[in-house]
Amino acid sequence: MQNTMKQNGIENSGLLQGKDFLQLADYTPEEILSLLETAQELKAMQKAGKPHSFLSGKVLGMIFEKSSTRTRVSFEVGMLQLGGHAIFLSSKDIQLGRGESISDTAKVLSRYVDGIMIRTFSHESVEELAAHATVPVINGLTDLQHPTQVMADLLTILEQKGKLSGLKLCYLGDGNNNMAHSLIEGAAKTGMHIAIASPAGYLPNEEIVAKAEIDAEITCGSITICHDPKEAVSGADVVVTDVWASMGQEREQQKRMEDLKAYQVNEALCENAKDDFIFLHCLPAHRGEEVTAEIIDGPHSVVFDEAENRLHAQKAILKILLEKKY
Ligand code: CP
Ligand code: NVA
Repeated sequence: MQNTMKQNGIENSGLLQGKDFLQLADYTPEEILSLLETAQELKAMQKAGKPHSFLSGKVLGMIFEKSSTRTRVSFEVGMLQLGGHAIFLSSKDIQLGRGESISDTAKVLSRYVDGIMIRTFSHESVEELAAHATVPVINGLTDLQHPTQVMADLLTILEQKGKLSGLKLCYLGDGNNNMAHSLIEGAAKTGMHIAIASPAGYLPNEEIVAKAEIDAEITCGSITICHDPKEAVSGADVVVTDVWASMGQEREQQKRMEDLKAYQVNEALCENAKDDFIFLHCLPAHRGEEVTAEIIDGPHSVVFDEAENRLHAQKAILKILLEKKY
C-alpha cells in the first residue's frame, strides 16, 4: 500500500483519511478488514493501558436528532481515549432544530471541528451534510443504515469465531430497517452468507440488496431473503435480530408486534442453528418481543461484548478518518 505510515505500531495507509463513513457499501472489503484490524489493535492497547492519543487536540461534533445511549457514550469516550474531545449537539438545542439549513450547519461546523457524527431520520440528510462539510461525516444511524453498529458486530463475530468469511449469519424480523441493511452490506463485504427472514412488507431495500449482491459475488458470500424463519436460522453461526418498531415507528408498534411475532428469536427456533451459535442484538432490546430473555440473557448471547465493541470499532474509524499525516 502506498503512503503507509507506522505510528506506535498501528499502520495507517492514509487512504481513508478525510473520507466520510455513511454506509459500508462505500468501503472496499480490504478497507473494512483493515478498520477491523485497527479496532483490534486499539482494543488491545486500551486493555493493556498503553497510551494511544492519536487524535490529540481533535474535536468531534455529534448531532443527535434521536435518542442514544451506546452511540453517544461510545463516541464520546472513544474521542477522549484517543486524546481528543467530543461535543454533544442535541438538535433541540442547536439552530438546526429551528430550521437552519443542513448545508449551512455543515459549513459552519466544519470551521470548528475535525469530524461530524450525526444520528438522524432521513439518510438523505446525512448525505447532504456530508456533501457540504469539509470534514469527515460519520453516520451514527439513519432510518436506512447503522454502519458503525455493524462494524462493532463484525468485530464481535471475528473475536468469537476467529473469522468472518464463510460463516452463516441469520437475521430475523424487520428486514427493512437500518440494522438489516447495514448487516447485508457488512456480510457481503466480508464473505459471509447472510439469510434474512421477514414477512411480506418487511423485506429489505431492493437497491441495497442488488448492490450487495455484486460484493457478495466478489467475496464468495451470499444473500438469501426468505419468509421462513426456520429456513434462515438453519445451520447459522450467528443469529441476529433487532426491535420490531424502530425509532420513529412507535405508532406502528401494535401492528408490527402482530406482523412479526412468528420471527421471535427463542430457544425452539435456535434449535435449528449450529450448537455453538452466537446471538447478537444492537440493543436496546425488548425481551418477550423480538427475543426471549432465555436467549438474550443465555449462554449464546454476546450482546454486551457487542455493545463494548462499539467503542473499539468507532475508535478505529475515528483514527483512520481524522488522523492527519505530516
Ligand atoms: N445500538 C445503538 O445504536 O444504541 P443507542 O441507540 O443506545 O445508541
Ligand atoms: N433499528 C433500531 C436500532 C436502534 C439502535 C432503531 O432504529 O431504533
